[in-house]
Amino acid sequence: MLREFFRSLYWKLSAVYLVLLLLVGAAYTYLTLFSSEMYFAETSQRINASLARHIVEEIQPFIDGQPNFKGMETLFHNVMVVNPSVEVYLLDGQGNLLAFDAPNKKVKVPFVSLDPIKEFLASEGKKLVLGDNPRDIHTPKVFSAAPVTMNGMVYGYIYVILGGEEYDSIADRIRVSYILALGLRGLLLSLIAAAVIGLVALAFVTKKLRRMTKTVMAFKEGDYGRRVLVASHDELDALGAAFNDMAQTIQQNVEGLNKADALRREIIANVSHDLRTPLASMQGYIETVLMKNKTLTEDERHDYLRTILSSTERLSRLVQELFELSKLEAKQIQPHLEPFSMPELVNDLTAKFVPQAQKTGVTIAVEVPKGLPLVSGDIGMIERAMQNLLENAIRYTPHGGKVTVAVEQRNSKIQTRVEDTGVGIPEKDLPLIFNRFYRARMRETSSGGAGLGLAITKKILEAHGESIEVESRVNEGTKFVFNLPVANV
Ligand SMILES: Nc1ncnc2c1ncn2[C@@H]1O[C@H](COP(=O)(O)OP(=O)(O)OP(=O)(O)O)[C@@H](O)[C@H]1O
Ligand SMILES: [Mg+2]
Repeated sequence: MLREFFRSLYWKLSAVYLVLLLLVGAAYTYLTLFSSEMYFAETSQRINASLARHIVEEIQPFIDGQPNFKGMETLFHNVMVVNPSVEVYLLDGQGNLLAFDAPNKKVKVPFVSLDPIKEFLASEGKKLVLGDNPRDIHTPKVFSAAPVTMNGMVYGYIYVILGGEEYDSIADRIRVSYILALGLRGLLLSLIAAAVIGLVALAFVTKKLRRMTKTVMAFKEGDYGRRVLVASHDELDALGAAFNDMAQTIQQNVEGLNKADALRREIIANVSHDLRTPLASMQGYIETVLMKNKTLTEDERHDYLRTILSSTERLSRLVQELFELSKLEAKQIQPHLEPFSMPELVNDLTAKFVPQAQKTGVTIAVEVPKGLPLVSGDIGMIERAMQNLLENAIRYTPHGGKVTVAVEQRNSKIQTRVEDTGVGIPEKDLPLIFNRFYRARMRETSSGGAGLGLAITKKILEAHGESIEVESRVNEGTKFVFNLPVANV
């Protein structure tokens, strides 16, 4: 649990954020202290710029070229009383210390650099310049300085360190308490506020991520309906929307595959059923013939063999139809278009069906006007389609009925109609009869077919870029209609 937390994005982001916050806080504290110090140093240098000059005017630092130790002593004393934060030095022309108000041991170096003093004098005290501090060579200090001249010659300098040792020790103490009292407390408060707000905001963002992860996981587990909630338009939502699109595609594909799989199972079931029936009947009759070989009359034997023959015919027809349909569905057969005469095709075909129709007492009528233009199509495939329609019309029309085949021109198309006065198709079955293996009026009627004829017919017309329509009324009759384009010769 804890390990997981330390591995989480939330923890990593928070850690980086808190470290950043601390760095900013530290930098801010340092800058504030530094700038306040500089501000104070510059202020005190400007205010006291002319202090050294006043001292030079007030006392005579050199008398007859010699340092005026007595005058200096009085000055040191007075200065100590008036302003204990300054330290006064008398320098010679090279920067060596000649007189000062501190005990000897407190002075660490016997001279100071003249460069800062010259810079200070040149800018007339308007620029912040730090000079050597004889008592602590590591911390330069703000100062005031003035040259002591006589007859145009520089004898030395009065050098005043502002904010001397006394000032430093008091300032340090006050600074610490100030920082603790005000600065640090304020800084701490604002850091805590920033941390709380930042962490809450981070938690909010990572919560969204966690929710998305949950959804994706659920999808992965097979809940294909799961989608990410997309509320606004930030980068995470864009990711969520992209995931949703992807999920949609995957869901559709999976559904398509499932459907195809179900169809495949159904086809296999149908095929095996349709193969088994004729095989079983063949097996039965063959066994009978073998067993009763001696006792069978010539007529009985003939009957049995006939039945066996018709079963093999049914089988080979089924296999042939399945083969045809699967090739059509895989688009392996493409129509070889050529101009041909539809009336001729109709006449030839109906002539072939006449004997069969006569057997069941059905008459066939052909209605074809003269002088029709040729159509464009694959004559072999169209013949196959027509054959299926005629076969059905004769098969599903009872004794005494009539089958009509009519051809006529409709604009740039030639329309062919196969109509019968047969049993008709119930309305609920109409949308389904073009499906493979679909037989209206149950599969029990061993009327012969496997239910593939119309599926093949439809595929053939689709390959020609055409469709087939059906109209039917139960016990009145059925009408199939399709068009083919006029060939442009
Ligand atoms: N002219 C028709 N009159 C009445 N019903 C029909 C007619 N044509 C087709 N049907 C119905 O449509 C179903 C499907 O026809 P289809 O030609 O595809 O299969 P089939 O004739 O049963 O078998 P197959 O053609 O494969 O030998 C038929 O079983 C039948 O119920
Ligand atoms: Mg049929």
